[in-house]
Amino acid sequence: MKSLNVDKHVKFLVKAATTRGFEWEMTEYLRMSGIYWSLTALDLLGQLDQLPREDMISYVFSCLSENGGFSPAPNHYPTIIYTLSAIQVLVILEATDKLGEKKLKVIEFVKSLQNSDGSFIGSPDDDKEETDTRFSFCAIATLKLLNSLDEIDTSKTVDHIKACQNFDGAFGVRVGSESHAGQVFCCVGTLALLEKLETIDQELLGWWLADRQLPCGGLNGRPMKKEDVCYSWWALSSLVMIKKSAWIDHKKLAEFILSAADDEIGGIADRPGDIPDPFHTLFGIAGLSLLQYNNSLDLEIVSKTSDIKLKPIDPILCLPSYLLRKI
Ligand code: FPP
Ligand code: ZN
Repeated sequence: MKSLNVDKHVKFLVKAATTRGFEWEMTEYLRMSGIYWSLTALDLLGQLDQLPREDMISYVFSCLSENGGFSPAPNHYPTIIYTLSAIQVLVILEATDKLGEKKLKVIEFVKSLQNSDGSFIGSPDDDKEETDTRFSFCAIATLKLLNSLDEIDTSKTVDHIKACQNFDGAFGVRVGSESHAGQVFCCVGTLALLEKLETIDQELLGWWLADRQLPCGGLNGRPMKKEDVCYSWWALSSLVMIKKSAWIDHKKLAEFILSAADDEIGGIADRPGDIPDPFHTLFGIAGLSLLQYNNSLDLEIVSKTSDIKLKPIDPILCLPSYLLRKI
């Protein structure tokens, strides 16, 4: 099996988070999540101090709106997705106390997005007012990280998520929508955070998730789709949450993730031969962490700093586990 070249990945992640230019401008609409992906990957590799902490914290607060939501970048509108990313960044930097009284505003923002049937919209500024199980997960995860789950009606949230389980055992964007492993992560994660995983058919879901592994070892997000490294997170973490990760071949999955790493410039792509990006780099490394600590995978790590170990990751909140023990 190929080894994980930590120094190359660290260089790639730092460059992506600090180099101004065309790519930086083009990714403005998702920047807050980009910072979360890079910081989390660096922390898993034991290199959090490679990015300037105070600048990161100032950036997060420059994206806080009057209504308590966070936007991806200043002058964009706030959504629940970037609000979760902002809170995840503050958790990684151990800076949630800097929210002070603004924490109540953030909680009000999250509450304002819930519909009477328990579903969530993504933003009050979104004219379409569409609901999405991604928004349910982001809302519940944000409240969990702020220790404020008792602020909303979680039983309605659970009812809505349960209504989204399809005949094949998996979940989609809304009731009756096509099953998709990204939405499975969101629905299973929401139920795990609310300690209601026992209320769904986990056997059927386990079969659907295990079926995502292709002969190349990689996982796809839906039947008939190509393998993609990010599903090493969305599908594998869901299997870990329902305690069925042994239903797939972990050595083959690890080999697939490592084969999508760029040996020249560092970083991990969606599949071998494609261009690496911070999103797939995080979910590749996070997948390797899950494999190492849930299936005792023997991963070889190379770095000039000889004692580097991959840190364990929390399968629900996608943050290094040591941080969650602290809050
Ligand atoms: C696939 O998207 C992924 C999803 C639908 C899941 C998105 C999850 C969140 C926004 C929650 C994030 C939270 C954490 C903790 C990481 P895609 O559009 O790439 O799907 P495709 O492969 O079908 O194109
Ligand atoms: Zn992907």
